Amino acid sequence: MANSSAPAQPAYYDSVGRWFSVVAVLYGIVGMLVGVIVAAQLAWPELNFGIPYITYGRLRPLHTNAVIFAFGGCVLFATSYHVVQRTCQTKLFAPGLAWFTFLGWNLTIVLAVITLPLGITSGKEYAELEWPIDLLIAVTWVAYAIVFFGTVGTRKVRHIYVANWFFGAFILAVALLHIVNSAAVPVSLTKSYSAYAGVQDAMIQWWYGHNAVGFFLTAAFLGMMYYYIPKQAARPVYSYRLSIVHFWALIFTYMWAGPHHLHYTALPDWTQSVGMIFSLILLAPSWGGMINGIMTLSGAWHKLRDDPILKFLIVSLSFYGMSTFEGPMMSIKTVNALSHYTDWTVGHVHSGALGWVGLVSIGSLYHLIPRMFGRTSMHSTRAIELHFWVATIGIVLYIAAMWIAGVMQGLMWRAVNPDGTLVYSFVEGVKATYPFYVIRVIGGALYLTGMVIMFWNVIMTIRNGKVEPVAIPAVHAHA
Ligand code: HEM
Ligand code: HEM
Repeated sequence: MANSSAPAQPAYYDSVGRWFSVVAVLYGIVGMLVGVIVAAQLAWPELNFGIPYITYGRLRPLHTNAVIFAFGGCVLFATSYHVVQRTCQTKLFAPGLAWFTFLGWNLTIVLAVITLPLGITSGKEYAELEWPIDLLIAVTWVAYAIVFFGTVGTRKVRHIYVANWFFGAFILAVALLHIVNSAAVPVSLTKSYSAYAGVQDAMIQWWYGHNAVGFFLTAAFLGMMYYYIPKQAARPVYSYRLSIVHFWALIFTYMWAGPHHLHYTALPDWTQSVGMIFSLILLAPSWGGMINGIMTLSGAWHKLRDDPILKFLIVSLSFYGMSTFEGPMMSIKTVNALSHYTDWTVGHVHSGALGWVGLVSIGSLYHLIPRMFGRTSMHSTRAIELHFWVATIGIVLYIAAMWIAGVMQGLMWRAVNPDGTLVYSFVEGVKATYPFYVIRVIGGALYLTGMVIMFWNVIMTIRNGKVEPVAIPAVHAHA
């Protein structure tokens, strides 16, 4: 690692990260449970029992917000606070403000859990929360930026390790995306209208949506990858030079690819083509990063055999490679003409979400949690191994079912008789999809089971472990 030559081990401030890491596991369970419920509702619609608060349309955004922002977000807070201190050889800047980020982020999550089932929504995907909550997010995020960049600014080593570049880009980009996309005119406490209209609104929304994927669900998790894989494998990053090229190429390219979400819409045609071309280019930095992560294991492949944490981390990169190959293919207009509106998209999303984001988060948390609680390892390695296999089988069932269903739907919708009439009515497509929806429920339930096993393992680790004394008791240590 870049900072391995640093002399004395400074005291770190880990209390906030400790809390973030435990609630991340809890939110993972909640978000995925809601995922399993919505998956079941798609197979058996009567499962909403006629109660408006738990209808599909209200639970679906609850699922996406819970898994992305509650689970993913808390993993990112926990790991970035952990990584930035170690790689900068300094303690967290403004711990009081770090606590504020914990409170602000968790309050946001509680408000989301209340408002979304009530049907209070701005209607923008992945940005559904209404304006007062948006303001809370903005304030929390500014505090996060101060803590993170303050720590980088007060570092004791000259070099800024590449993981921090990824975390830093994520923090800056999310601030920009959130503020621009959430601009709205409030008409009451619970209702606002977007500041943009028509196709501009769509364009801004998918510039946001795509970069939420690029920076929230990718760049920041790559930051984790660049710290936890070398640490867990006890090997240096395969090519540090490649990691720098990877960083700049990725963040430059992602910004322009958003229009691939709006193919064949009122968006000007050339804009759609620009989106497609940048999406195709995006394959190169994505695979550069994947190869860099996987090759970090060169000379140490045998470790994969009996280290389940490494299995999580390396297999996550395989799914990253798969979804970043599939994404550029789906951005090609003629392919998108088949895949758009079908479950193929949902399969793509979850190969990235369950395979990449989920597995890299779980692997990193297994590395992080024992260290945060003064233990050298998790309570049960066999439980981690079991988790790995249950999760992997779950992912394969989920995504294979959605791919088959998606391609089938696309082909059925476009099949025409010689006289130009449709071969299949819409409901025939829905009926044909039913078995695949059931398979998805099984796959999702397996993935959720893995998270419950993890929760048990985490609790056992904490209960049996001894917590190290908090290194810096005074919250105003940096004042
Ligand atoms: C037990 C695990 C999970 C299950 C069963 C599940 C299930 C579902 C279902 C049924 C949908 C709605 C699909 C549709 O509208 O047709 C969905 C959407 C979505 N889920 Fe999950 N999910 C799981 C985990 C996750 C995780 C961990 C993430 C992210 C880290 C995630 C991110 C998303 C996103 C972004 C969407 C929206 C997809 C789109 O608009 O195309 N899910 N999920
Ligand atoms: C090179 C990288 C990638 C490219 C070029 C790409 C491209 C695409 C394309 C073309 C779509 C379909 C748009 C549509 O027809 O509506 C899509 C949807 C999506 N992708 Fe990717 N993808 C990439 C990587 C990823 C990764 C790694 C993740 C998750 C971690 C992800 C998450 C999503 C989500 C959530 C959607 C659904 C958005 C929605 O409609 O709600 N993508 N992507």
